[in-house]
Amino acid sequence: MRALQSLNERRSVPSRLLGEPGPSAAELESLIASAIRVPDHGKLTPWRLILIRGDQRRRLGELLVATQLRRNPETPPAVLDKDRQRFNFAPLIIAVVARVEENHPKIPAQEQLLSAGCVAYNLLLGAQALGYGAQWLTGWAAYDADIAAAFALAPGERIISFIHIGTASETAPERLRPAVADVTSEWTAPE
Ligand SMILES: Cc1cc2nc3c(=O)[nH]c(=O)nc-3n(C[C@H](O)[C@H](O)[C@H](O)COP(=O)(O)O)c2cc1C
Repeated sequence: MRALQSLNERRSVPSRLLGEPGPSAAELESLIASAIRVPDHGKLTPWRLILIRGDQRRRLGELLVATQLRRNPETPPAVLDKDRQRFNFAPLIIAVVARVEENHPKIPAQEQLLSAGCVAYNLLLGAQALGYGAQWLTGWAAYDADIAAAFALAPGERIISFIHIGTASETAPERLRPAVADVTSEWTAPE
């Protein structure tokens, strides 16, 4: 049962509770190397990672604000402030990009997307194993065409997560988890 400890202890740390220090260069290299050991039907490597660090975090926030204002100059200041701050907490944000080939002859798009999801989840588990806190966030920016262009995403590519990683300033609250019995059933053959 001890082998399951890292899974049992996993929980997100809200990004606003994440700060310096983030992973060192060596830790980041190891974290990524471990996180990309995912199931990958067809060995397509249907994902890639984009690091957002240093002043680029502030610039991404400003890009979000500019995008909002271009679309709606009346955007409330509170909304703009939230967007401006979004990427300013954790020292490291890893955008996980799924590279989905919709009409692949053998591998359904869903399987490619799920492989990318495994990378994102491994980043959460790996960051925690290294002693950092992490949170998987999307928000509107992950689904926005203009932001996708700013990330130079190719057709078929999409951001599935911004994984925020840093040192937790406090212990994140645990939440109620679903009961095993509520989500598990036994398959029996139809008569
Ligand atoms: C695909 C995906 C996108 C998410 N996007 C957001 C988000 O934009 N904002 C947010 O507050 N939580 C988001 N979450 C939820 C958090 O990452 C986290 O799972 C949740 O706060 C529950 O905490 P836990 O991971 O400890 O169960 C997302 C989760 C997933 C799987």
